[in-house]
Amino acid sequence: MTDVEVQVVRDAAAATEAAAALIAEAVDAGGHIGLSGGSGPRPTYERIGTLRPNWDKVELWWIDERCVPPADGRSNYRIIRESLLDGLVRPPSVVHRVRGEAEPEEAAAEYDAALAGVTLDFALMGIGPDGHTASLFPNASGLDETERRAVAAEAGMEPFVARVTMTPPVLSAARTMVYLVTGEGKAEAVERAFGATPSPDTPASLIRGRRTIALLDESAASRLSSL
Ligand code: 6PG
Repeated sequence: MTDVEVQVVRDAAAATEAAAALIAEAVDAGGHIGLSGGSGPRPTYERIGTLRPNWDKVELWWIDERCVPPADGRSNYRIIRESLLDGLVRPPSVVHRVRGEAEPEEAAAEYDAALAGVTLDFALMGIGPDGHTASLFPNASGLDETERRAVAAEAGMEPFVARVTMTPPVLSAARTMVYLVTGEGKAEAVERAFGATPSPDTPASLIRGRRTIALLDESAASRLSSL
């Protein structure tokens, strides 16, 4: 397990700016970038699209997906398309969408195959209030996966639709992993993820890249006593 570099900034706006700067470096370097869905990173995706409108050196991946059609409001593909892809001048060279409209097992097997031989250069992660990251929910079997790079998963939180998620074998190989977490509602999960003994009760405490940065605002970091 690698050490986590914890960076605390004043508020969500500052976290957006700092996260966008880190993604900008990854876009400039080119390679494989994995992005998370959910509502948290939306402002960051909007900002990075302005900062770096040319993504043609990037292959884009989804850290996880909700099993709904791509036009559904819950789709992580849709969230990233609307907040990032639609505004780019030059799109990523390849957009590796999870087929959320397919059977979860089938979509996961396809994503696993697509990820063969791929090392993520950059992975943007979130944390749910229950401590999940990607769609690896507390005590999920996917946390023990050692072979498959993507698996089908059950949702432990809303939206309660089946998921496809990347797994520890691919996530732990990520060259740079950034957790972007803001707000008081995440403070306890952040404490469990970065300030306590790692446990499958808190998947975000177990998932680490080769280099891991936790980018937090003061509210999310408020229970990290060691800072
Ligand atoms: C998902 C996300 C998920 C997310 C966390 C935090 O599909 O639900 O990819 O892993 O990163 O749930 O989400 P918020 O930032 O919306 O709180």
